[in-house]
Amino acid sequence: MDRIKITGGRKLEGIIPISGAKNAALPLMIASLLTADRLTLKNVPNLADVALLARILRNHGVDHSIEGKRASTTHLGETFHLTARDIVDTTAPYEMVSRMRASFWVLGPILARMGKARVSLPGGCAIGTRPVDLHLSGLKALGAEIDIDAGYVVAKAPRGGLRGARVVFPKVSVGATHNVLLAAAMARGETVIENAAREPEVGDVASCLVKMGVAIEGIGSSTLRIQGRDRLEGAVHTVLPDRIETGTFAFAVAATGGDVLLEGARTSLLETALAALAQTGAEITEERDGIRIRRNGSGVDPITVETQPFPGFPTDLQAQLMALMTTARGTSVIRETIFENRFMHVQELARLGADIQLHGDTATIRGVKHLRGAPVMATDLRASVSLVIAGLVADGETTVNRVYHLDRGFERLEEKLGRCGAAIERLSSG
Ligand code: UD1
Repeated sequence: MDRIKITGGRKLEGIIPISGAKNAALPLMIASLLTADRLTLKNVPNLADVALLARILRNHGVDHSIEGKRASTTHLGETFHLTARDIVDTTAPYEMVSRMRASFWVLGPILARMGKARVSLPGGCAIGTRPVDLHLSGLKALGAEIDIDAGYVVAKAPRGGLRGARVVFPKVSVGATHNVLLAAAMARGETVIENAAREPEVGDVASCLVKMGVAIEGIGSSTLRIQGRDRLEGAVHTVLPDRIETGTFAFAVAATGGDVLLEGARTSLLETALAALAQTGAEITEERDGIRIRRNGSGVDPITVETQPFPGFPTDLQAQLMALMTTARGTSVIRETIFENRFMHVQELARLGADIQLHGDTATIRGVKHLRGAPVMATDLRASVSLVIAGLVADGETTVNRVYHLDRGFERLEEKLGRCGAAIERLSSG
């Protein structure tokens, strides 16, 4: 299993190119199931989760090819061509879906196009119970008949296919919004999704569906109005930049000090997180080709933050913020309201000397003067990158074990940080 070794204490200076958003690329790839024509996606990040989903889609019968490297693209990712001429298999098996939760989102589109689907209940990061009740109630509202059989969701559309309906989510869910949006694209008539997730990745998928011929109103708002079509066309779409990767590197620069341009990043995708970062004393400027983050000399000021659905502070940046707060000049408070068990990094940060108290959904972080390097264990995707940030700040050597979590969601992390002066290397243990 690979490990990452970091020798902390160096400032970050330079340019970090921001990749395409994993959380948009995945549902966009799934949208290819809705058409027999070709869907071309540009700026797809090269990640383990993307490769796994490509395998799952190929198993359903999707033809998938990747264009070769292009010389002129610095921060642009890969170009995928996906064609689901026929869906030859409507089952998404346990061995695949259990490894990545987002693959459960094939349920809506396969059901809508084929009239039936059998998809394993999902797995994914161990960050608390992550039910799928909202996905299922949304699809039921479109007329689906749903049973659970031996760990699989078995869904059937009524004769004549899914029909548009009003879906009111009692709670904001990114995944349930994707699943129902993708199904509604091929349902007869109008679907209105209320209390839809407003995350930019949902908007990116909706914009791609519009290119595929679906009329959608309210993109970016919590009410989506979708006019389903029985045939969707192919399209060409560019994946938006990854706001979580952007925030992660922004927090890393604030933690180590330095001056970095996050090339290709957009402030509009993470205003709340950047506002929090500004409160800690970092300087943030929007430049023509990205966002520049600077912190020189001054200490880190403590803050109080609560995670919320977009446009609030993202839960996917909570662990990274906590790493930054470990050496703040005072006491910070972070409340996690989205996932109940998303504090697994706390124990590992404590191994580096962080002073963090947990009470239910609230972490109180008393800033310490120095962290000290130590071996730590990555537990989930975002938690593991918080350990990298802490390692960059800590005196001496930190080794992060189980980095396969990182490879699921961060493209070329050690190379991007290394180019900015970090002493970071991957140790492969074949
Ligand atoms: C997505 C993101 C993940 C992010 C999360 C919240 C992707 C691939 N993953 O995950 O990175 O952390 O949004 O921003 O885009 N819930 C239910 N019933 C359901 C579905 C969800 O109760 O049927 C609950 C969850 O347990 C959680 C909350 O709703 O407490 C939000 O989850 P959700 O937005 O669905 O997260 P994901 O789509 O899994």
